[in-house]
Amino acid sequence: MEKKVSRIGVLTSGGDSPGMNAAIRAVVRTGIYYGLDVFGVMRGYQGLIEDDIHKLESRSVANIIQRGGTILKTARSKMFLKPEGRKIAYENLKKHGIDGLVIIGGDGSFRGAVAFSKEFDIPCIGLAGTIDKDIMGTDFTIGFDTAVNTAVEAIDKIRDTADAHDRLFIIEVMGRDAGYIALHSGIATGAENILIPERKTNIEDLLSSLLEKQKRQKLVNLIVVAEGDEFGGADEVAKLVKERMPQIETRVCILGHIQRGGAPTCLDRLTASRMGYHAVECLINGRHNVFVGILNNKMNYVPLENVGKRKGTVSDEWMKIVKILAS
Ligand code: F6P
Repeated sequence: MEKKVSRIGVLTSGGDSPGMNAAIRAVVRTGIYYGLDVFGVMRGYQGLIEDDIHKLESRSVANIIQRGGTILKTARSKMFLKPEGRKIAYENLKKHGIDGLVIIGGDGSFRGAVAFSKEFDIPCIGLAGTIDKDIMGTDFTIGFDTAVNTAVEAIDKIRDTADAHDRLFIIEVMGRDAGYIALHSGIATGAENILIPERKTNIEDLLSSLLEKQKRQKLVNLIVVAEGDEFGGADEVAKLVKERMPQIETRVCILGHIQRGGAPTCLDRLTASRMGYHAVECLINGRHNVFVGILNNKMNYVPLENVGKRKGTVSDEWMKIVKILAS
């Protein structure tokens, strides 16, 4: 029989995402509700190694549900990639009597958790905290909705000035390996073209579509490019357009890290609260070493070792919608 969990730790790791604080709050308050002691680990796995671990009370997480960033801070720990680093982390957890861990982060953070849970008897629960929405096993990741709404707000503003000057704008959004921010924000702002890593970019097709639009006097055009598109980011695309179509007035805007900050949307707060609550339930009920996702509005538990990046799953239907609506 698995031993009962009584003291748990929570950490945020990898790139931050809006809603991480709401998830921390949910873990802390659910843990306390069930009579557990809850500890916050600073700067992800690095804080485990450096023993930067602090007991949290219900009031420690007051007034954070609406705040972006993460009160626990975050890091990408190189030392935790090594068995020696993980051993120190384990010893520190033992010192505090911590017997369960909730990890809020992306796929890289889960790989760390898999290695750790195989080596040591500390159950780990993973929650998807990433703006990129590139994790399999869940329809939502904490932060995606906020990031995409930030991008939509920015692109709407760009359209105003593009329209005033009859310009082509090439806008780069985040997404190192995934085009979800580009696809969602692009469709929602009526972008004429959307370039994403999941689809091969045919630059000749793009140029001829611009030429065709120019012929019928459609001079305001927005191209949304995911930073991870294989052709390159917005600068690369703009360079080529300027070379081949110098008659078009072109500007570039890279939205960058503003997409990672700001108050989480209602959806991200709800997602984070549900996931955080269920993470603690998992630890208590002996459902160990799983990732907690939400699929078709139901909790979905996937063994952590089966969780990876969601790749190439953009449907043809969505791409057809982009094409038809952008005419
Ligand atoms: O968190 C995901 C992400 O925002 C990617 O879209 C982006 O490529 C990356 O993080 C940038 O991370 P950083 O600037 O923290 O290295």
